[in-house]
Amino acid sequence: MKLIFLIPSSTIRSTTKKTIKSVVGGQERLDVLSRCLLNLSRWNNRINREIQLLIYMSHEQEQKVLSIPISDKFSTLHNEIDSTYMMLDVLSSPEEYNAEYRVIRFNKLLDNLTKDSSIFYLTSEGLSIDKQKVLTQNNLSLCFILGSQHDLSDEQEKALFDIEYIPISLGEKDYLASHVITIVCNHLSHLDNN
Ligand SMILES: C[S@@+](CC[C@H](N)C(=O)[O-])C[C@H]1O[C@@H](n2cnc3c(N)ncnc32)[C@H](O)[C@@H]1O
Repeated sequence: MKLIFLIPSSTIRSTTKKTIKSVVGGQERLDVLSRCLLNLSRWNNRINREIQLLIYMSHEQEQKVLSIPISDKFSTLHNEIDSTYMMLDVLSSPEEYNAEYRVIRFNKLLDNLTKDSSIFYLTSEGLSIDKQKVLTQNNLSLCFILGSQHDLSDEQEKALFDIEYIPISLGEKDYLASHVITIVCNHLSHLDNN
């Protein structure tokens, strides 16, 4: 069963020219997603689930999802520079990583995900992650939705209201997206070991 992280970004573009220097300088805030990729590549060997990163590009000229299966191809990542290079490569040559772009509206994507996953929305106003029994049901894919450098837009939050989801909080502190991934994966790995 899959472990999916869905992260909407209004800034990341699929076809603009980007270099390692421009990304390190903050272009499109791709650095946020590169850090997420690095963290997921590390958890890939520690969690007995197929991990998938879904980047929803909500920029008006994109409206597409890039799905990236976290495979052994990413096991060579050692630091943020490695993961930034690889993220650039995934964006320009997704087929090399079995990744793919799909044009889809955000609400339709959510609709599709509900068909075989339990959906969790990460928000500091949610319920404690410790009390979520559904996380231990191994027959379900788990999909966690979180913001990137920004929280979800009002429109994206509204789309969530049309589906069944559980709001999950990791406490009152505001964490970076990559840290949220680590906290969730750490929690799941403890559940799997008990
Ligand atoms: C860097 S934060 C987004 C921006 C930030 N909230 C701000 O004020 O600019 C990335 C995402 O991680 C998730 N997140 C951060 N802290 C959290 C917490 N304490 N509990 C649950 N989710 C959290 C939320 O989904 C959030 O949108």
